[in-house]
Amino acid sequence: MSKIAVLGFGVVGSGTVEAFYTNRESICKKAGKELDIKHVLDLRDFPDSPYAEKLTKDFSDILNDDEIDIVAECMGGVNPAYDFTKSLLQKGKSVVTSNKELVATKGVELLAIAKANNCNYMFEASVGGGIPIIRPLHQCLAANKIEEIVGILNGTTNFILTKMIKEQMSFYDALSLAQQLGYAEKDPTADIEGHDASRKICILASLAYGKHVYPERVHTSGISRITLEDVEYAESCNCSIKLIGSVKQLENGKILPVVRAAFVSRECPIANVDDVFNAILVRGNIVGDVMFMGKGAGKLPTASAIVADIVDVAKSEGTSISQVWETSEDYNFIESYKLAKTSMYIRITSDDILHTTEKVKDLFGEVKFLSKKIVATNEIAFITPAMIEKNIDEKIDDIEIAGANVIGKIRVLDI
Ligand code: HSE
Repeated sequence: MSKIAVLGFGVVGSGTVEAFYTNRESICKKAGKELDIKHVLDLRDFPDSPYAEKLTKDFSDILNDDEIDIVAECMGGVNPAYDFTKSLLQKGKSVVTSNKELVATKGVELLAIAKANNCNYMFEASVGGGIPIIRPLHQCLAANKIEEIVGILNGTTNFILTKMIKEQMSFYDALSLAQQLGYAEKDPTADIEGHDASRKICILASLAYGKHVYPERVHTSGISRITLEDVEYAESCNCSIKLIGSVKQLENGKILPVVRAAFVSRECPIANVDDVFNAILVRGNIVGDVMFMGKGAGKLPTASAIVADIVDVAKSEGTSISQVWETSEDYNFIESYKLAKTSMYIRITSDDILHTTEKVKDLFGEVKFLSKKIVATNEIAFITPAMIEKNIDEKIDDIEIAGANVIGKIRVLDI
């Protein structure tokens, strides 16, 4: 018999308890032993909850309970989740988590503590919600060198973009709906500005390339500056705008992780993945392309991945099966996004649009001009040929010095 504790009774924690008791019998069969949830930690009161008798406000009830050997950390944020996780692992209690911020910032240290104490730190729920991606990456695709990972890694922003594009819903109404549905982070800035997706690409990159990639090393931007005009221009060239997290290994051996909005051709399956769904394409040098898709956020999809980790830990009988990567003190293995080649969508306004158009052609060579239903007489939009981003930015500076305004710049995904 293994006894479980759940830290946090919010969206993910309550989903974990619900998922566990919905399918308890088959979960125990799969684990090969009896499992039960003994404690749920939360500072709030839930007098009407059917699990009210399991609630405690005191972490030491869990830490000092010798019957508890598996803990689901569903609190989110670095503190106090970090202190709690560390002390649990040091006592040999395995921890499973959906906390991408903690894994992305402290994963290498917590994995080492788990290994040293012959227990496990597992985080299938930290990337892609209910989609299996962590286990496939470090187990099923173990024969491969990972050449590239590209994906929609944030459900909230995909939901917002879909509502804006397909239902002309305003950004704020779509965000508010995503919050009501339990998709968004406590502070939704993390979703909108790309930080949540950045943490997830860090976790995938660390697993795929074996060294800890910290969020501050990943060039990250979100969707807050995307306009309906950009969306219309994207549609005019058979593309969809998505917030994409990606990492690839370059010819020089370095890796390039980034999180940015991108024009994605509708011929790429990722472009047609909408609403709260995430999609992650992994390119291995043996298997080729493998794609994972499913609900990337929300109570029960995330709980599904947490309970799967609980079952794996229960089956592991104390043996460390943790996925591992090395610490990284220097960051020479990460390439600057400025040195990578990309095509770029650029939108410009100018008082002398004819002159600006000529300048664009002089600077960029063969660009592809875009159109939409109604185009203001003082604007142009186009896609550049693939070139080093630093060079694109220098040309944009030249255009601005000549008096035009660059009001849109979005990379064009090339996979
Ligand atoms: N806020 C996150 C998202 C939750 O929208 O993807 C799941 O990690």
